[in-house]
Amino acid sequence: MRAAFARGGAGIGSVEMRHVPVPDPGPGEALVRITAATLNYRDLIMLKGLLPGLTKAPDYVPLSCAAGVVAATGDGVTRVKVGDRVSPLLAQGWIDGPPDPRRMLGASLDGVARPLAVFDAESLLPIPDTLTDQEAATLPCAGLTAYNALFDDQALSSGPLRPGHWVLVQGTGGVAIAALQWAKAVGARVAILSGSDEKLARTAALGADLTINRHATPDWAPAVRRRLGHGIDIVVDVLGAGSLDAAARVLTENGTIAAIGMLDGPFNWGRQSHEGRRIRAVTLGDRARHAAMLAFAARHDVHSIVDAVYDLEQLPDALRHLESGRFFGKIGIQIKEQGERP
Ligand SMILES: NC(=O)c1ccc[n+]([C@@H]2O[C@H](COP(=O)([O-])OP(=O)(O)OC[C@H]3O[C@@H](n4cnc5c(N)ncnc54)[C@H](OP(=O)(O)O)[C@@H]3O)[C@@H](O)[C@H]2O)c1
Repeated sequence: MRAAFARGGAGIGSVEMRHVPVPDPGPGEALVRITAATLNYRDLIMLKGLLPGLTKAPDYVPLSCAAGVVAATGDGVTRVKVGDRVSPLLAQGWIDGPPDPRRMLGASLDGVARPLAVFDAESLLPIPDTLTDQEAATLPCAGLTAYNALFDDQALSSGPLRPGHWVLVQGTGGVAIAALQWAKAVGARVAILSGSDEKLARTAALGADLTINRHATPDWAPAVRRRLGHGIDIVVDVLGAGSLDAAARVLTENGTIAAIGMLDGPFNWGRQSHEGRRIRAVTLGDRARHAAMLAFAARHDVHSIVDAVYDLEQLPDALRHLESGRFFGKIGIQIKEQGERP
C-alpha cells in the first residue's frame, strides 16, 4: 500500500508517499481499512516542530483522525468484528486515567494517512449510522475536544451547558465550528469571533447568535459584554497566550475558560487563576467521552462541516490549504486506494 510519511519538524515539504507492507493485527489489535481522515492544526504543530519532541523518529505517518471499516482482527478481539465501521481514539488506550503521551496517533505513534492501519481494538469506537465516514473522521480531535470543553459537568462551575448559557468561540476552524454545533444542539447561545465577515455569515447560518470580526473589533471582550449586557459562561479558547486576558474579562463570575489551543502562542500556566477566573486545560477526551460525543451527534443529528476534500496523494496540498487558514470547519482526506490486502 502507499502510505504518507513525514519527518517531525521538517515541514510540509517532508511529506512523501511510500510503498510499505500491510501490517498484520497482533493479539488484541484490529486492521482497519481507512476511508476518510481529516486535518487538524495539530498536524502542523507536528510537521513544523512547534512543540518539539512529540513525533516518532526518524519519521512517522501523519494525521490523527480517521474513520474506516474493520478488515481483520487479531487473537482475543471481542470489541469489534470484520465489517464494523469504526473510528480510532487519537490517544490510543485512553480508557481511564490520564492519556499516555507515548500513544498519540500521528505523533508518537504512526497516524492514519494510509489505507490500512492496525490499532488497539479497545481503542476503536463504532460509528453511528447517522454519520458518514468523512463526518466521523472530523471528531476524534476537534470534535471531542470541543465536546469535552462544553459537557464535562464536573469541571464546569456554571454546571451543565443548557439553554440560555452563552459560549464564546474563537475562529472558524475545526474545534470552533464543532463547539458551535454542539452548543446549538442543546439550545445554548454562541458568540463567535472570526477574521472574516464571509465566514461569520456562515456561522450565523449555523445558528451563531453574536458574530464579531476580530479585525474590526480587536478589543472584543468589552464589545461582547456591551452587546449582551452580561458575560460568557464558557470561553472555548483556541488562541492561548494572546487571548487569556480578554477571555478572563469576558467571563461571568461563574464561568470557565476551556484552555485548548495555541494559535496565538501557548498558554502561560503560571497565571492559571487569572483574576480569580477558572481556567481549565482541555485535552481531547477518554473513550467514554468519545462514545458519549458520538451518541450525542447521532441523537441531535449533528453533521460536521467539511469544507474541502483531497485525495491522500494530495496531502501536501491539503496541508498547505490548512496552513492558509482559508477554510471553514474541517479539511478532509478521502482514501480511495484500498491496499493490497484482500
Ligand atoms: N488540547 C487539545 O487536545 C487540542 C485539541 C484540538 C485542538 N487543539 C488546539 O486548538 C487550536 C485550534 O485547533 P483547530 O484544529 O481547530 O485549528 P484550525 O482548524 O486550524 O483553526 C484555524 C482557525 O482559527 C482562526 N485563527 C487562526 N489564527 C488565529 C489568531 N491568531 N487569532 C484568531 N483566530 C485565529 C482562523 O479562523 P478565522 O479565519 O475564522 O478567524 C483559522 O481559520 C490549535 O492550537 C490546536 O493545537 C488542542
